[in-house]
Amino acid sequence: MELSPLPLVLLLISNIHSGHTEEIPKPTQTVKPQSSVFTGDTITLNCEVDQSTEWEFLWTKDSDFELFEASGTKTISSVKVSDGGQYKCRARRRENIHVLTDYSEPLTVTVEERPKAKVIVQPHERVLVGETVTLRCDIQEGGDTSWQYSWYKDDSVIEYKLQEYTINSVTESNAGKYRCNRKEIGGSRYSHSSDEVTLRVLGLKPKPELKSNPEGAALTGNTVTLTCHMDQSTGWQFYWYQHTQKHQKNTTDKNSYTVNIDSVSDGGQYWCRAGRGNPVYYTHYSDALWVNVTDQPKTILTVKPENQLFSGETVTLRCDIQGGGDTEWTYSWTVENTNYRNKYIVSEYKKQEYKISSVEHTHSGKYTCRGKTRGGQNSEISDAVTLTVSNKAQAVLSVSPQKWLTEGDSVTLICEVYGSSTGWTFSWYRDDNEFNYKHLSDSSRGAGGNYTVSSAAVNHTGVYACRGERGEQVYYTEDSNTQPLWVTGVSPSVSLIISPNRTQHFTSDSLTLSCEDQSNSTGWTVRRYTDIENMEDCSLLSLSSSSSSSYWGSQTGSTCRISSVYTSHTGVYWCYSESGDNSNAVNITVHNGDVILESPVHPVTEGDSLTLRCLYRYKNPSVLTADFYKDGSLLQKQTTGEMIIPTVSKSHEGFYYCKHTERGESPKSWISVREVQISVLNMLSSLLAACPYLLLTVIMVFKCCRVRGKTSVSFPLCIFFPTNTNTQHYIVGRLGLVVWPPSLVELGTCMSGT
Ligand SMILES: *[C@@H]1O[C@H](CO)[C@@H](O)[C@H](O)[C@H]1NC(C)=O
Ligand SMILES: *[C@@H]1O[C@H](CO)[C@@H](O)[C@H](O)[C@H]1NC(C)=O
Ligand SMILES: *[C@@H]1O[C@H](CO)[C@@H](O)[C@H](O)[C@H]1NC(C)=O
Ligand SMILES: *[C@@H]1O[C@H](CO)[C@@H](O)[C@H](O)[C@H]1NC(C)=O
Ligand SMILES: *[C@@H]1O[C@H](CO)[C@@H](O)[C@H](O)[C@H]1NC(C)=O
Ligand SMILES: *[C@@H]1O[C@H](CO)[C@@H](O)[C@H](O)[C@H]1NC(C)=O
Ligand SMILES: *[C@@H]1O[C@H](CO)[C@@H](O)[C@H](O)[C@H]1NC(C)=O
Repeated sequence: MELSPLPLVLLLISNIHSGHTEEIPKPTQTVKPQSSVFTGDTITLNCEVDQSTEWEFLWTKDSDFELFEASGTKTISSVKVSDGGQYKCRARRRENIHVLTDYSEPLTVTVEERPKAKVIVQPHERVLVGETVTLRCDIQEGGDTSWQYSWYKDDSVIEYKLQEYTINSVTESNAGKYRCNRKEIGGSRYSHSSDEVTLRVLGLKPKPELKSNPEGAALTGNTVTLTCHMDQSTGWQFYWYQHTQKHQKNTTDKNSYTVNIDSVSDGGQYWCRAGRGNPVYYTHYSDALWVNVTDQPKTILTVKPENQLFSGETVTLRCDIQGGGDTEWTYSWTVENTNYRNKYIVSEYKKQEYKISSVEHTHSGKYTCRGKTRGGQNSEISDAVTLTVSNKAQAVLSVSPQKWLTEGDSVTLICEVYGSSTGWTFSWYRDDNEFNYKHLSDSSRGAGGNYTVSSAAVNHTGVYACRGERGEQVYYTEDSNTQPLWVTGVSPSVSLIISPNRTQHFTSDSLTLSCEDQSNSTGWTVRRYTDIENMEDCSLLSLSSSSSSSYWGSQTGSTCRISSVYTSHTGVYWCYSESGDNSNAVNITVHNGDVILESPVHPVTEGDSLTLRCLYRYKNPSVLTADFYKDGSLLQKQTTGEMIIPTVSKSHEGFYYCKHTERGESPKSWISVREVQISVLNMLSSLLAACPYLLLTVIMVFKCCRVRGKTSVSFPLCIFFPTNTNTQHYIVGRLGLVVWPPSLVELGTCMSGT
């Protein structure tokens, strides 16, 4: 069939020589069996022209070369893809080769690669005895031609002609190598034979093994993944059963199934099995598997010392699983940082306690924790605990009920940490000297923040401070503010004598403060407390000028001299000995104006008389005609400059000042009144014990009073009774002031009448 170059050259030469062409009909070209064939087929091209003459034929494919054939038939056996193309033919006279016809109409021949069949096995090439298997002879190309299929098993023909070959309920004898091909019914087309497919038939029905992850107990709020293990694992569907093999819970394509454990009812026995094919071929059921569910345990997050923290403190967060049993837990911690608004996991911190040894502001945030079992089952997430880290803790000291006390009073110093309440223990300090605070040895009285002195003594006078501490790695608060306590004694061993003898002083006045006791007046120092400078001692003369910047007076022996007072000298003054004893304290007010009040520095005793004067800075007149006020309200107007209260009672206690219309007003000063302390019942009983006759008298007088009715007349009754027990050597004065018991009032009333 191939064109040899020699005839071709001759052909071309002959063409050049042909001068003309006659009127000859052009040939008709046909192809058999058809123009579209597969590789390996045989085609026959036919070129027909007027039969009256003898012709030779020339063919050309894709206008390349002309090929000479003696007859009008050209056969190409076993075509290749390259034989496809556009064919044309023409004829020439056998006796005169210069007479040529025109070319026929072109004819297109297409040659495709012959299709190859493929055997597809459903459900799988490895099947189990009893399964239904379908073999399908699959060929891409098809069209609407009718085909006949041939099946071969182990190279022998199976008497079966359809595209799908189904074996219902396979047996081991069906195992073997299968291939197929096809032929056109009533035509010449056919496919290449498929590759061989090996069908294996396995004898025993498999039984899958069901496993769970985690193994063992599960907790609500978690998931459990069940896996159905089998050797043959394609094409299967998996069926999941709970409680009984009749209750199908789910179907999956994969061999695992994740169960959400929402409640205890999601636990129980589980089975699985697999199935495939149509009708479905099922494996055996797996053995039953217990998924034992218990309720998710609660998680409690606790914080020590508390969630209000201070920079530098150590805090310990602890995660407790309630009723977690002897399960081994690991813990994870989460913080949502309130400063930066981000949430992150403080990693999978394995320990139950999460400790931050020196907290900073950046540790503030919302913390949660949860526990995890080995199998990855989670406990509940704890409630969030908000940690707040503040700057340095400040201790705050206050006094209840007041800082001015009388011997025997009870007083409580209350120490608190600003903004925080739990876990603190407190230490208490008292001035030792002006530079040094001494830890109180009986500090245990301050446990819980209250340091109580149940019966104050004069030597409790002093300046106090406290601080708090907490934590294993002890964290201390800042020292508190100071709080002074002044205790007024009934008969203190030393007295502070002030000259001039009054509370208020003009600036630039000189002042002498001396400590005097009955026997020994050495070893006393004058001490003062001002709001600004706190506590300071009067300086010894030798140290005075050089050492102390807070120099305010000079001490010689037991006398302190201030040559010129300033308003900054306003404060509380008392005497102090190294042995820790104190005098009563006095208020001193220094005034920059022209008017002051002359009032006593020590408390006035009930029943005494009290004289107040209004003094003028300039000596003419030194005593001003003025108005006197008590607690802001006018008491006496336009006096001679003096106001006298002849009999002082407790109700006279208060803030006094005087005012001159032109010269101004004085500062206010507190005048305190010392009550005469007597226990009436105590007195009466001693009285009656001392003198049995008196009982009779009392009864008689009482009767007499009944008859006369009540007339309220104050009668000074003076009873002098010596006792050997306690300090009641008092002259009990002015019984009329005693309100209780009423019988005694009446006694006084009555006796005034007899
Ligand atoms: C689960 O519970 C069943 C029935 O209460 C019990 O027989 C089985 O031992 C339990 N399994 C486990 C792992 O606790
Ligand atoms: C079955 O399991 C799948 C996957 O685990 C899940 O998406 C589906 O909701 C389950 N159906 C039922 C009825 O439980
Ligand atoms: C401390 O004292 C105050 C005032 O006296 C009182 O209200 C408080 O309850 C006391 N606290 C303790 C812990 O005793
Ligand atoms: C006060 O004096 C008494 C004895 O008079 C003594 O027992 C006590 O310790 C003193 N207290 C202080 C705080 O000095
Ligand atoms: C006076 O007190 C001083 C020191 O406090 C002491 O040394 C001296 O003996 C005392 N004198 C008398 C008489 O008590
Ligand atoms: C000193 O003044 C205060 C009020 O400022 C008062 O409570 C106190 O009793 C006064 N002390 C004396 C000894 O008068
Ligand atoms: C000081 O004045 C009071 C009355 O205000 C008086 O009782 C006392 O004796 C005076 N003291 C001196 C040392 O003058």
